[in-house]
Amino acid sequence: MPNPLNEIEELFRQADEDMQAVSTSDDLEHFRVKWLGTKGILKAKMALIGQAAPDQKKLVGQKLNELKKSLEEFHASTQTQLEQQATPDAVDVTEPGQRPALGNRLLVMKVVDELTDLFGRMGFAVAEGPEVEDEFHNFVALNIPASHPARDPLDNFYLEQGATSRPLQLLRTQTSTVQIRVMETQEPPIRVVIPGRVYRPDTMDATHLPMFHQLEALVVDRNVTMVDLKSTIMQFVHAYFGTQAKVRFRPSFFSFTEPSAEVDVWFEDKGLWIELGGCGMVHPNVFTNCNIAPEEYSGWAFGLG
Ligand code: DAH
Repeated sequence: MPNPLNEIEELFRQADEDMQAVSTSDDLEHFRVKWLGTKGILKAKMALIGQAAPDQKKLVGQKLNELKKSLEEFHASTQTQLEQQATPDAVDVTEPGQRPALGNRLLVMKVVDELTDLFGRMGFAVAEGPEVEDEFHNFVALNIPASHPARDPLDNFYLEQGATSRPLQLLRTQTSTVQIRVMETQEPPIRVVIPGRVYRPDTMDATHLPMFHQLEALVVDRNVTMVDLKSTIMQFVHAYFGTQAKVRFRPSFFSFTEPSAEVDVWFEDKGLWIELGGCGMVHPNVFTNCNIAPEEYSGWAFGLG
C-alpha cells in the first residue's frame, strides 16, 4: 500500500508545476477547477486520511490542509495580480490631476517679458503705476500746460467727476506718468523701465486701438548725458533686432524732455524706417516738479510704443 505522505509530497510537486504554468485568467480558472473544485484533486485526496494508518492520520490531515492553504493563497494572489494587469488604464482617483494645456501666452505679454528681461540685464529695475491717473501725473508734472492740445477732452478718456471734489482723472495716455511717480518716491540714482497699457480715443483701424502698450525708461543720476541715452538705445536695438539693425535719431519736441528726439529703426526686409518712439533729456521743470534739483542731477527718458 502506498504511503499517503509520499503521495501528498507528490501532490505538492504537481501543484507547484501547475502554478508555474498559470499565466492567464483562463489558466487560473482551469487550475482552480482542477485543484479546488468540488470534483477537484484536493477533495478526492481527502480520502487519504481514511486510508492512512491510525498514527499517521493526524499528520496526513495537516499536510492536506497545508496543501489546500497554499493552493488557495496562490489562487487569490494570482487573481488580484491578473485583474490589475487587465485594467492598466483604470482611473486612480487618488492620483494628482493633470493640468490641461492652456494654449499660448499673449504675444504682447511675451514681448513685455522679453523687453523687461533685456533691460534687466542692462541694470534696469521694473516700475509700474496706475492706469487711472490724475491730471497732475499725466500732464502737469510732465510740463504739459493747461492750454496744450494734448489735454483736449476729445483726445483723452476723462472720467466723470460726479459730485466729488477730487482732482480730474483720466485713463493715462502715456507711461511717462510713472516717471513722475518714480521720481516722487525714489532718490537718484534711478534706472527703471516701465511697461504698461495706455489709452487714447483713436479711431480703430489696423494700426490703432483705444488701448495699446508702451515701454518707458528713465535714468536719473549725476552727469548723465545724451551719449548715455543714444548708446543705451543702440545697445537695446542691436540686442533685440540684431547687430545689423540701423538706428536713426531725428530732432523732435516733447514738453518733458529737452532736447528731444524720435528714434527710428531700419528694417532691411521691409526696406523702411519704422518709428520706435520718443526720447530726450529730462526737462529741468520736470525735475523741479518732483523735488529733484536740476542743477545737481540730469537724466534721460524714452518711451517706445
Ligand atoms: N510719452 C510719449 C508719447 O506717448 C513718448 C515719450 C517721448 C516718452 C519722449 C518719453 C520721452 O519718455 O522722453 O508719445
